[in-house]
Amino acid sequence: MKNRKFAQLFLNALLGIAVVLIPCAIFTSCVEEKQLDELVQEANQEETEQETEEPVVALPGLPEDVAGYEKWLKLNAEPIPPVAGGDPHNGTKNVYVNQERDTIAPEGEQQFPYPDGSIVVKEAFRPNKDYVGLIAIMRKKAGTDPDHNDWEFIEYTRNAPDADFKVIASGRICWGCHIRVEDIDYVFTELD
Ligand code: HEC
Repeated sequence: MKNRKFAQLFLNALLGIAVVLIPCAIFTSCVEEKQLDELVQEANQEETEQETEEPVVALPGLPEDVAGYEKWLKLNAEPIPPVAGGDPHNGTKNVYVNQERDTIAPEGEQQFPYPDGSIVVKEAFRPNKDYVGLIAIMRKKAGTDPDHNDWEFIEYTRNAPDADFKVIASGRICWGCHIRVEDIDYVFTELD
């Protein structure tokens, strides 16, 4: 008699556990499935986003190696204002380089010279204009001009937002002035 009562109690307990556990198990497996579904969906979405992302092209008239320069490391924290009393690159300027911060400033301190292959791009918005009207480029190519730290200088301008950039000057006229900052590898703008 005692045994039967005990068996009954035991069965009830088992039933109780089952009532709680089974729905729990079903619920968690649904959640997992849903998460997996979502993950797959997200992954697919990312893929299509990547496919539809616009290819990076240079502004018209500029060489391809500066395409997407706006995404490079910007040396100046704030836009550089026009130089009072006459600006060789007249306008409001930003300076970019195709290097990582850690490469040119290990442990937070900028090192010189810039590595071979460096490209420094300066864009300028001409006074009262809202499009880039000037692009000045310094490219470091080993062997091109050892007397001037192997920098190649070239500058382009345009006078309308949809016009092609055209070369305006290059070489001696540029390094003749940039030589003033020879000690920091000819680049006036230091990393902020
Ligand atoms: C009379 C001096 C002078 C001349 C000439 C000059 N620059 Fe500059 N350049 C500067 C100064 C100063 C800066 C610093 C940023 C600013 O205020 O525009 C600069 C900045 C630059 C930068 C951004 C990197 C840096 O040094 O800060 C590039 C790139 C550049 N110049 C390229 C050229 C090219 C190419 C030419 C020739 C077509 C040229 N420069 C001629 C004075 C000059």
